[in-house]
Amino acid sequence: MGGQQLLWKQIARHLSSHESKMTKLASSAPVLLRRRERNRDEKDDSKYRQNFTFMAIGIASAAAAAPFALSDSRKTTKHEEIINHTAGKRVKNLPTYRLEDVKAHKTVEKGVWMIFGEGVYDVTEFVENHPGGKTVMLAAGGDVGPYWNTYSQHHTEQVYDMLEEYRIGNLHPEDVKKLNDTSRSVRDAYSNDPKRHPALLVRQQKPFNAETPPLIAVQNQITPQPFFFVRNHMPVPDIKAEDYRLHIGVDRKTSNQDKDDSESFLRSLTLDDLKEKFKPKTVEATIQCSGNRRDDFNKLKEVKGLKWSLTAISNGTWTGVLLRDVLLSLGLSEEEMRLKYSHVHFEGYDSSDDGTAYEASIPLHKALSPEADVLLAWALNDETLSRDHGYPIRVVVPGVVGARCVKWLKKITVSDEESRSHWQQKDYRMFHSSINWSNVDWSKSPSVQECPVQCAICIPSSDSSIKLDSDFEFKGYAYSGGGKGIVRVDISLDGGDTWHQTDLEDTDQKAPNEYGWRLWSFNASPEMLKKSLRGKSSELELVVKATDSSHNVMPKDAQDVWNIRGIMNNSWHRIKIKVQN
Ligand code: MTE
Repeated sequence: MGGQQLLWKQIARHLSSHESKMTKLASSAPVLLRRRERNRDEKDDSKYRQNFTFMAIGIASAAAAAPFALSDSRKTTKHEEIINHTAGKRVKNLPTYRLEDVKAHKTVEKGVWMIFGEGVYDVTEFVENHPGGKTVMLAAGGDVGPYWNTYSQHHTEQVYDMLEEYRIGNLHPEDVKKLNDTSRSVRDAYSNDPKRHPALLVRQQKPFNAETPPLIAVQNQITPQPFFFVRNHMPVPDIKAEDYRLHIGVDRKTSNQDKDDSESFLRSLTLDDLKEKFKPKTVEATIQCSGNRRDDFNKLKEVKGLKWSLTAISNGTWTGVLLRDVLLSLGLSEEEMRLKYSHVHFEGYDSSDDGTAYEASIPLHKALSPEADVLLAWALNDETLSRDHGYPIRVVVPGVVGARCVKWLKKITVSDEESRSHWQQKDYRMFHSSINWSNVDWSKSPSVQECPVQCAICIPSSDSSIKLDSDFEFKGYAYSGGGKGIVRVDISLDGGDTWHQTDLEDTDQKAPNEYGWRLWSFNASPEMLKKSLRGKSSELELVVKATDSSHNVMPKDAQDVWNIRGIMNNSWHRIKIKVQN
């Protein structure tokens, strides 16, 4: 993750909970006072003074509201409403600045100003106090818009909220027009992203993130590639087969040395090398995003992240070579490797605006296990990998969360420690529900690897209607990580009072390598549906839960697994549907 991107993520985190937000607002008051006083020295403006008083009152009242905000995460304060409404828009009664005024403020000594939309911001305090401040300096004295248009994940309410706290004025309309004209010509880093199937359920355009349509998920044991869910953090790299190189090596650093100086690359392989020098293998495996079903957490208390519904998960057959074979071709014996190292890092060719690449790691024992079937894959469902899914080579770690299945694979590094990347250290870790963004210590929980047991109802969809005049077939998927199979999926049509065992589709998968999902179905007669209504209403509450081959069961309530990052929601899947006579 790029410094700037990370920075804004950090901001978002600081402000994600009302607890931290209110603390921040309270502690910002003197900061704002200093900032505004400095600006006032430079430009005396009575309207400005008036506005400062208003802001100070706003901050004070927001701080005073903090204890109330703590009790209900969905309530917004007046201050927040104002902020949300005005991000980057012209605000009455603020001073107007020219582009030259902003340009004159690009150092901490003189103050660091920035433009967003029609707004002018003084972010000096932010730059001074945050580790990612240096990256923000890229936009110092200028327009942050082009950066955010390229890396559009900054366009979130939380980032907007944070920015508005630093608002000092409006940009002159003539300068706004000038900047708009310029920014239109700035190249969009996503303009070379591939075309996608229009049926995908898009959760974010840039970077592209989309779910498999649930109907298609349950129609096919193997999800057709165009409908395989997509999870991208950055623009999709465009790699030509003939240019592709995979660098493989060992990390020779001691823990306090700089990693870049200490990697020793033992081999570089072309695509043909991989295909010709190693034995190919095909493995059926499901990939599930850790955020699958995150949106159900939001119904309890808002979590941060893409609002994934129930199909950030798909199943495919992957063809490639075993990572184990490639690692053992490096010249170190398996024993030596196991003795010296304990993790394998994967770095992608995709990168953020400051050149930070996507990176993750898995334990070395997983990579070397002959049964784990960790692949460097070039094909999905017997077709060449599409660009969205990692062309020309991606890692597939069967039974492990998607975050570790690095696409557009550039480097493999065997190391004595986990990847230091953001995605390994400060994301994709799970905590209990009392941990919030202001007290989280990421080192207190391990990075997630194997997926827990999971299932969901795909047909019918939530809030849809079914008729009582004929049988109805309920359908969905079930999956568990680590090669564990699914032994049962149970369904209740009355909110969990009575249960029925569903039928599992046959598969060729065998223990301990059951890496693909199991589709399930359940046929209910009109009589059964009527009985489940219990004469009370025209609404049925459907619930499903799965049991895996280790007899792990899913937790009953989402609140039992709720966590700030909104990952690993494997609570009983519940939906309500209407029935029509
Ligand atoms: N690899 C790279 N290089 N960049 C990414 O953004 N996203 C990860 C993983 N590998 C990602 C990546 C995440 S979070 C998931 S869930 C899977 O890719 C999704 O794989 P898919 O898009 O092929 O479904």
